[in-house]
Amino acid sequence: MEVALREVHDSDLPVFFRQMNDPEALRMAAFTAKDPADWHAFDALWKRIRSSDAVARTVLADGDVVGSAAVYGEPGEREVTYWIDRAYWGQGIATAALRDLVAEVPERPLYARAAADNEGSLRVLEKCGFRASERARGYAQARGEEIDEVVLTLEG
Ligand SMILES: CC(C)(COP(=O)(O)OP(=O)(O)OC[C@H]1O[C@@H](n2cnc3c(N)ncnc32)[C@H](O)[C@@H]1OP(=O)(O)O)[C@@H](O)C(=O)NCCC(=O)NCCS
Repeated sequence: MEVALREVHDSDLPVFFRQMNDPEALRMAAFTAKDPADWHAFDALWKRIRSSDAVARTVLADGDVVGSAAVYGEPGEREVTYWIDRAYWGQGIATAALRDLVAEVPERPLYARAAADNEGSLRVLEKCGFRASERARGYAQARGEEIDEVVLTLEG
């Protein structure tokens, strides 16, 4: 399967919206929007992301839109985030996409945050060179409770 990143097109947003409303994916990611089913809030967030200095990319697998990946945040505190359509999990797509994204963005360190029980995401980050640097607790919207979170760092 050929994985590639490209700029986000307007027509990708409804696809992301569907992918990011999958109940199993939401539970896994845990730290999600207050109301993921609110299209207007979702659309407004993506407008802000795309007009900021974030590096936002659409993930393609054999030409299909299968997810998104981005680097965002203040200089010195830039974080990565990614989301893959559940139908495509377990095929190395997130790992390939994150590898390409961090190769494209030269800033270091880069940070990532994942729910402590999000084993898939932690493994993707580890495979791309991120190392756990801190543990924290935070309110996870998708779970309705405070949970453990791991902060990871990719050094230069
Ligand atoms: C986490 C996520 C991005 C992983 O995407 P993916 O394309 O399936 O990941 P990959 O196929 O590249 O998997 C990489 C590694 O993680 C492992 N992995 C993936 N999902 C896993 C899971 N649910 N449990 C345990 N390990 C998992 C794979 O086995 C693989 O490890 P290996 O190479 O040692 O075998 C995807 O499940 C997702 O989008 N989840 C919802 C959103 C989310 O959690 N985003 C991250 C927020 S921090």
